[in-house]
Amino acid sequence: MAAALAGYIGESAVATGRTAPSDRVTNLVDEMTLEEKVGQMTQMAASEIPSENPAEALRNYKPGSLMYLPSFDPKEVARESNVRQKAMVEDTRLGVPFVYGIDSVHGNNNIQGATIFPHNHGVGAAWDADAAEEMASITSRTMRVTGTHWNFSPIADLQRDPRWGRFYEGFSEDPYLASQLVAAKVRGYEERTNGYKRTGASIKHFAGYSEPANGNDRTSALLPYRTFASTFLPPYAAGITAGAETVMVNSGSLNGVPAHASKELLIDILRDQLGFEGMVVSDWHDFFRMIKVHGFAEDLKEATRLGINAGIDMYMVPAAGIEGDDAEGYQRRLIELVDEGSVSMERIDEAVTNILAFKENVGLFDDPYAEPEKVEGVVSEGRDLAREVATESMTMLTNDGTLPLGSDTGSILVTGPSADSVANQMGGWSLGWQGVGDTEPPATTVLDGISEAAPGSTSVTHVPTGLHEFSNEDDVRAAAECADVVVAVLGEGPYAEEQGDTDTLALPDAQRRLVETVAETGTPTVGVIMAGRPRGTSVFDHLSASLMAYLPGTAAGPAVAATLFGDANPSGRLPFTWPKGTGQLLNLHNNFPPDEFNEEGNTEPPQSHETPLFPFGHGMSYTEFEYGNLEVRPPKLPQKAATDELTVSVSVHNTGDRAGETVVPVYGTREHGEVLYPQQVVVGFERVSLDAGETTRVDIRSTVLPLATVLGDVFSRGELVVDTGEYQLSVGDMTETLTVV
Ligand code: NOJ
Repeated sequence: MAAALAGYIGESAVATGRTAPSDRVTNLVDEMTLEEKVGQMTQMAASEIPSENPAEALRNYKPGSLMYLPSFDPKEVARESNVRQKAMVEDTRLGVPFVYGIDSVHGNNNIQGATIFPHNHGVGAAWDADAAEEMASITSRTMRVTGTHWNFSPIADLQRDPRWGRFYEGFSEDPYLASQLVAAKVRGYEERTNGYKRTGASIKHFAGYSEPANGNDRTSALLPYRTFASTFLPPYAAGITAGAETVMVNSGSLNGVPAHASKELLIDILRDQLGFEGMVVSDWHDFFRMIKVHGFAEDLKEATRLGINAGIDMYMVPAAGIEGDDAEGYQRRLIELVDEGSVSMERIDEAVTNILAFKENVGLFDDPYAEPEKVEGVVSEGRDLAREVATESMTMLTNDGTLPLGSDTGSILVTGPSADSVANQMGGWSLGWQGVGDTEPPATTVLDGISEAAPGSTSVTHVPTGLHEFSNEDDVRAAAECADVVVAVLGEGPYAEEQGDTDTLALPDAQRRLVETVAETGTPTVGVIMAGRPRGTSVFDHLSASLMAYLPGTAAGPAVAATLFGDANPSGRLPFTWPKGTGQLLNLHNNFPPDEFNEEGNTEPPQSHETPLFPFGHGMSYTEFEYGNLEVRPPKLPQKAATDELTVSVSVHNTGDRAGETVVPVYGTREHGEVLYPQQVVVGFERVSLDAGETTRVDIRSTVLPLATVLGDVFSRGELVVDTGEYQLSVGDMTETLTVV
């Protein structure tokens, strides 16, 4: 399986046996006492180490890692990190630096003044791996100068269920698209400077986290092995191949076993099959969750034994010792378990070796300190890139010709709850776990963006409305009647994790009424949706045009405005299927056929209700692109070379009268085989830019690996293979055959 999965990116992830640790690491492990080793295996809140006289607490806990200094001020974070690190290096017996980690999931979203990029579902919509890598590189620069070495990012979990509150943290429902972007972000975070990786990435949450059976975060998932191996693992394999230093574990359970207690997941699959050699960290408070949430372990001691023996190297201990789960107790229990022989010294040494090797790889032994004097220049990097990526992500869902707005538009009414809301355009994990609080990021709202970009002759008025209330109906109606066009910025407020779970995909009633009120006036109305998932159902019936803006971050204003006025030609494509409502879940583009059952000529039930509102890959442009002369090279592959790259070559012609960029996706499927094949998967893609009337020939690097499967009957648990036979590769409505022999 590893060989097949590794081929998504290259061949280096094939398990070949662990790389030997360096002498420095081995010597340190030899020198450490059990207490020091257990200290390394502890990640705790930085707030529990006081900045006044930190040495005492550091000598007490000997923490391998700290997380979350309680400040957004970059200079203060740099100073506070240094105060503690200096005490760690100079005032503890072995002076092993701690690794400091945070979630910088869309830019350094924990630092005031830092650029905040679109959330990952917007990055998915841009289909631009180079840009993803560059964003991650900038993020890691802002992290390192502030003394931060470890990013709990990127999510390698696929988008499967939009009810789940973390949908927006994933890149795509498609394993290939997600894999490319996971690998790109890992490369960017782990870019080498001065001979070491600038920060370490954490691909998370291993594995099967994103499809809880009932849509609720951290509940149980049930995944057949065929789907798990062919669909859920590839983004992890891609992240591992790209070098990811760490893996974070799924807080939920999979097929009846908490992931944190699963040797099969954390050793057999992660290490032996995928070839991961780095460090495995638990998620927050998850030993405790084995007791209270999953009803699995009896107490914290048993949970610790199960977790450490399953392969967890470091425990993320919750701050403030909630529910009796604190660093002191964890360390005491782990020492007892070793003394009793329930956790072996070999397991402890292996964990500590992984942790120290990670520290060495991110240069901590040579360069553990923040650089407060460099902070100012670095944290504001990436402003232009944020605008470019947000613009690339803009996905035009519908358009009756209202867009782009002409230069003769006399007046625009901007309304809706997210028109002037920095918090809503950022989403969760933005200077606050649940989104922007008192500290505002440097952002331009859609209202400001439209006001700045509108021609001098266009007047812009603003009537705000609420996410969940619409009490100024008369004002909005009157303003809409006077306007030439209405831009209604709709969507969701910020949320993170379980607090974002939802049981509806319809927009709140207040927003539906807003749209209906405006539409009744007869003034053309453009809906801009800023949301963490496909939010909006019947609302599209009342809109003249609509744009999915995702959670665009700092540069929402210029990105949306440039698209509305036609200065940018929309080129985003949905990285997920947009269902008509929760009744269609999980109706994904890579499901097995059929997605409807309706025998020919039979108009009686069962009826098909399965056509989504907008399919995967949907995205309109202000120009038209035509494809021609599809060619697959080579047309035939020996099975043993199934990991080899293919070239799909196609002519793309911009037949309209506007320049534009477009993403050319190559889809693959297979009609007859030993098992069913996904109706459609991405096997390659390329973003191209064409002048009006221009034609170009595009060579797209592709692979048949997304069609690798586990052969055999319903409960088969075999190797992931590319079977021999014929595969259909298509671009637009042209299809060519690839034969694997
Ligand atoms: C819990 C989340 O599940 C995880 O994604 C995050 O990295 C940790 N908390 C740390 O904030």
